[in-house]
Amino acid sequence: MDDRPVGIFDSGFGGLTVLRAINDLMPHERLVYFGDSARYPYGPKSREEVSAYSLQIAELLAERYDIKMLVVACNTASAQALPQLVERFPIPVVGMIEPGARALAMQSMGERIGVIGTVGTIGSGAYQTRLSQIAPKKRLVCAATPGFVEFVERGETDTDQVKVLAERLLRPVIDAKVQTLLLGCTHYPFLARAIGEVLGPETMLVSSSEETAFEVRHALLEAELASTSAGPADIVYLTSGDPDEFRRVGRSLLGIELRDVVPVKWAGE
Ligand code: DGL
Repeated sequence: MDDRPVGIFDSGFGGLTVLRAINDLMPHERLVYFGDSARYPYGPKSREEVSAYSLQIAELLAERYDIKMLVVACNTASAQALPQLVERFPIPVVGMIEPGARALAMQSMGERIGVIGTVGTIGSGAYQTRLSQIAPKKRLVCAATPGFVEFVERGETDTDQVKVLAERLLRPVIDAKVQTLLLGCTHYPFLARAIGEVLGPETMLVSSSEETAFEVRHALLEAELASTSAGPADIVYLTSGDPDEFRRVGRSLLGIELRDVVPVKWAGE
């Protein structure tokens, strides 16, 4: 049993949806979160760039915090860089695609399912491949929704502008009458109200945060890495952006105070 922290990262605030689910399920696990706000969005970036950023963040978390597990709380980084991370680090690495696909397959009631995500995630084909294996009878529609992440990063989640963009980008999902839609980007649960209003009550939204938290717990127990401490554990937040801004937007998104925010400067930024 092991009291080192679990490392979690995302391009910015999105991974906080996963952090919250992990903390709810395992409040005694120490967590260290990295939000790469200086370099978001990852969605439009090349595979090489996303892989290089992901490896750099994992390196930092491993060296400075001696993490016992890495959670890639970003669908784009999971779709583009998971194999490289698994190969490079001798600790369990959990990504978003597997739990996301599983959550969608398990929770879908009708046969018309959908996934929305960044250009990088949808373009990689990761969800299409996995869902064709685990839910071959379902009719899948995937849509890239560029621009959503930027709204969340500004702390803007329920404005008319978000809805106007959602109406345009969600057109393929509406036209296909998707019954169950996976929010295949960790930023999107923060936009669930706007997305839900545009799609209407006929479409059920699925987030993969909880399923990912269960996977993290399973992996910790399996590797005998779960914490032994009993009380609530500390959470440290690292940001490559402005720490005050991270605290302000993080608080408005999560509704809790982010006390321990540590700035990280990348060389050349
Ligand atoms: N939260 C990231 C994801 O799940 C957003 C990527 C981005 O920065 O575009 O894909």
